[in-house]
Amino acid sequence: MSSKNYSKPTIVRVGNPLYVKHGSASQSYTLIRESIEGVNIESLVKQFGSPVFVFSERILREKYKRAYTAFQSIYPNIQFGWSYKTNYLNAICKIFHQEGSIAEVVSHFEYEKARNLGIAGNQIIYNGPYKPIHSLRQAVIDEAIINVDHFDEMHDLETIAKELGKKFKIGIRINLNSGITPVWSRFGFNLESGQAWAAILRITQSKHLGLAGVHCHIGTFVLDAEAYGRATHKLSEFVRHAESHLGYNIEYLDLGGGFASQNHLKGIYQPPEIAVPRIEAYASAIEKEVKWLTSRNPLPKIYFETGRHLVDDAGYLITTMVAEKLLPDGRRGYVLDAGVNLLYTSTWYKFKIELGCKTNGIIEPCVLNGPLCMNIDIMDESIMLPRLKRFQKLIFSPVGAYNVTQWMQFIQYRPAIVLITQNGEAKAIRRAETLEDINRCELDLDLKNEKS
Ligand SMILES: Cc1ncc(COP(=O)(O)O)c(C=O)c1O
Repeated sequence: MSSKNYSKPTIVRVGNPLYVKHGSASQSYTLIRESIEGVNIESLVKQFGSPVFVFSERILREKYKRAYTAFQSIYPNIQFGWSYKTNYLNAICKIFHQEGSIAEVVSHFEYEKARNLGIAGNQIIYNGPYKPIHSLRQAVIDEAIINVDHFDEMHDLETIAKELGKKFKIGIRINLNSGITPVWSRFGFNLESGQAWAAILRITQSKHLGLAGVHCHIGTFVLDAEAYGRATHKLSEFVRHAESHLGYNIEYLDLGGGFASQNHLKGIYQPPEIAVPRIEAYASAIEKEVKWLTSRNPLPKIYFETGRHLVDDAGYLITTMVAEKLLPDGRRGYVLDAGVNLLYTSTWYKFKIELGCKTNGIIEPCVLNGPLCMNIDIMDESIMLPRLKRFQKLIFSPVGAYNVTQWMQFIQYRPAIVLITQNGEAKAIRRAETLEDINRCELDLDLKNEKS
């Protein structure tokens, strides 16, 4: 008969109301997930390894359709621009492009990625504070929708216009106080200080540039839906003023993104089901503010660049508990095979953590650490869990936004990413990294130790 491993007992004060004098000593953790979209967690790990990111095509498409319907029902001429930075995996971009989204990019790299996916220049919204001149030139030639971030960029565009002997229209990015904090004031031209007006005057004075539209992205994970109403109101007043005084007729309003997903922002007490507005609430917040556009012929376009709202809830990370230890303060510490190298956004979000199988036992305070030999690699600094079994799976969600773009190849290889298709098949959309992948960019020098 094999004997069990000895584990030193500890006494931990558990502030759990279920532990009354006569209470049960054993509870089961209720967050259990044995499959994603019908595909078994263990079989996903067997096929693709651990850790592994998993995306649901069904959720991606459903999210898009619902958001599109919400905004289209309040204004007929809307267009979504898929925010590449949120998640630029080709498969994910293709799904949103298939659904009808154009591309929204914020760098030359993203611009090239969109073009490489077959998106025409005039179907790309080009934002961002750094657009190198060669990139801007290409965007001008391709007739991309360019939203200018600062006066230096305007100067660059004028130079390009002269060089190409071309006159073209641009949009300007405007930042404003919509009543939320922090105010994102570092991108574009500030409205309240008069800088946005100066930008319009500068365009008016230019022989080469015209004004196509205005853009405003007030922030990200914005929980106050009414902030969009206030921002659209200010933007609309500004545009009406510019139109009546300077004779413009704008072609678009770009209201950016920022709509929240079902994630749990640290510091927000209420759960996402209560704290996060429905997408229809964001739409109805702007409804009356865009009414003035509806009498126009042709109807100006309203662009939305929503990123996280569309993709976050469709992404999961499966990870394996590889070791446990008892911390000096009595808490149990678990080592997972995925850490902040993969979930960059764990600094701001407290993810939902589900166990891959039913687990009974006393629920005790634990810390979840990642695999990095770095003190900061904490996936959850305080979670109540039953005693986990070694190699048990844990599933983090929602993790579809900003993780597989901001993840780091640091200490560990980056893992595979899988899409569960609408017909329930699990397909790799990015394979796990290998040493060759990482070494490919390095160049061999024939180094000699001159001193020896
Ligand atoms: C210009 C611009 N548009 C769109 C987005 C997408 O924002 P979100 O993912 O919050 O919808 C961002 C992200 O910060 C952005 O900077």
